[in-house]
Amino acid sequence: MSSPTSGRQYKNNPYERVSFSSVTGNNIGIIRVLNSTLFPIQYSQRFYKQIVQPELEKYCKLIYLNDVPVGTVCCRLEEIDNETKLYVMTMGVLAPYRNRKIGSQALQHILDAARESKKPKITSVYLHVWVESGDAKRFYERHGFKEVGLVVDYYKKMEVRDAWILEYRLHPSAAEGEDESVELQAMSPSPAAQDHATTVT
Ligand SMILES: CC(C)(COP(=O)(O)OP(=O)(O)OC[C@H]1O[C@@H](n2cnc3c(N)ncnc32)[C@H](O)[C@@H]1OP(=O)(O)O)[C@@H](O)C(=O)NCCC(=O)NCCS
Repeated sequence: MSSPTSGRQYKNNPYERVSFSSVTGNNIGIIRVLNSTLFPIQYSQRFYKQIVQPELEKYCKLIYLNDVPVGTVCCRLEEIDNETKLYVMTMGVLAPYRNRKIGSQALQHILDAARESKKPKITSVYLHVWVESGDAKRFYERHGFKEVGLVVDYYKKMEVRDAWILEYRLHPSAAEGEDESVELQAMSPSPAAQDHATTVT
């Protein structure tokens, strides 16, 4: 369960190998330390209980560069209007290791896993991005995410509080053709998402 799964080698440096490990009782301490360094809030006990659930194993990963833990990505499944969506709660790479395509590989790993899932069939991956974080928005748009809504006052403790909703469609929904952005705006943020409402994604 916890054995690392291979990522791709960074094309400019064959000695840099990115891999992903499932979250377990043995490495959850490392995840906690990384998250407390990466994000401006302390995550709850509920968050850490959630990310070790077997059904989230493919979507919650500790990210390694060679044998060094350098980041985390944590997602959860949500049922919205008869669709299963994957919500990216957190994604981060330690500052000294950024801009080496580690974040891109982690995001691609999660998108691939979501696309391959049969039970449940996941229709889309979505997340919130702080409206002031143009870099983050461009990062996700480069990976195929599209802006589908805006949540006013999402980040309760920030001076600028609004968040974009970015979504990556994996499979057409039953309601394909209808205005998705209205649908997402209406349902976000979910009560659980508000647990993490001060994290800038
Ligand atoms: C977002 C993040 C995971 C990207 O990781 P990474 O390994 O640097 O990603 P890559 O090397 O694949 O891509 C780098 C690109 O991401 C952009 N980026 C996206 N979000 C960024 C952020 N918050 N801070 C800095 N750069 C960011 C960079 O500008 C860079 O763009 P470029 O390719 O045009 O130069 C990393 O910047 C990070 O951990 N940021 C802090 C936490 C955060 O904002 N997480 C967002 C989701 S919760």
